[in-house]
Amino acid sequence: MYNLLKGKKGIIFGALNDKSIAWKTAEKAYEQGAEFILTNTPVSIRLGEIDELAEKCNTIVVPADATNVKDIENLFAKAMEVYGGRIDFVLHSIGMSPNVRKKRSYDDLDYEYFQKTLDISAISFHKVMQVAKKMDAINEWGSVVALSYIAAQRTLFEYNDMADAKAALESIARSFGYIYGREKKVRVNTISQSPTLTTAGSGVKGIDGLMDFTERMSPLGNASAEECADFCITLFSDLTKKVTMQNLYHDGGFSSMGMSQQAMLQYNKSFDECDCGEKVN
Ligand SMILES: NC(=O)c1ccc[n+]([C@@H]2O[C@H](COP(=O)([O-])OP(=O)(O)OC[C@H]3O[C@@H](n4cnc5c(N)ncnc54)[C@H](O)[C@@H]3O)[C@@H](O)[C@H]2O)c1
Repeated sequence: MYNLLKGKKGIIFGALNDKSIAWKTAEKAYEQGAEFILTNTPVSIRLGEIDELAEKCNTIVVPADATNVKDIENLFAKAMEVYGGRIDFVLHSIGMSPNVRKKRSYDDLDYEYFQKTLDISAISFHKVMQVAKKMDAINEWGSVVALSYIAAQRTLFEYNDMADAKAALESIARSFGYIYGREKKVRVNTISQSPTLTTAGSGVKGIDGLMDFTERMSPLGNASAEECADFCITLFSDLTKKVTMQNLYHDGGFSSMGMSQQAMLQYNKSFDECDCGEKVN
């Protein structure tokens, strides 16, 4: 191991089970010498397996609902007490849409659910940074990372109101990243990750077909949760000190593709096999 995070302290939001991107990141951060506090909502702590991860990483779990400012204040206060001062990194690996869960389509959204989607999946990122900045809880050259998805830029069938949440999340990274960088030299980035089979990922309708499509379309194939964790580690490390306010694609090249050779062959073949002649968008 490289000890890339030796001496660094952090907070990791969002480890539910061993499929979670946050779980893999915690394992990697521990391997790289970091110390961190794990957090999730009380219900996710009860239903998930985070205690097992805490034991593995020799740490504690502090419950916090990331939409609740008081909970976040308590979390940062606890982290500063445990580590005797400021921390160096934060991972925001949080997403949830009640509209997706309740199978409400994008042209039939429940607006209370929509607000929850935005609060949990995007505004919570602002809340975390606002609390951290007010409490002066992050060291200079510290790093804050949140996880996003390409539906922030492009329309993907069935990603629903999470697309709006991700667009807001990426914008918050730029807007807060400017202020946090200017005043405290803290960097803020989002990672736009390939579709991944986690609990949140499995909630996206048609995830299997989508993953197959992006796997075939990306020259390097889909990025796994573990590979995403590796990328998070580089962003927490001192090797990326001047990277901030970026949305960084971690998707095997998918975001830069339009048409691949294989997809073109398949596209042409589909007309040979089915000469239906009908045009569907
Ligand atoms: N899985 C994918 O295909 C994929 C692709 C790109 C980006 N992402 C993003 O990665 C992040 C992590 O998701 P994952 O795929 O590891 O799934 P996951 O289900 O393992 O993690 C989502 C986490 O969000 C937590 N959470 C929900 N509401 C919360 C709240 N109010 N306060 C605090 N935590 C809350 C859940 O308890 C859970 O631990 C999310 O932002 C997700 O949108 C996922």
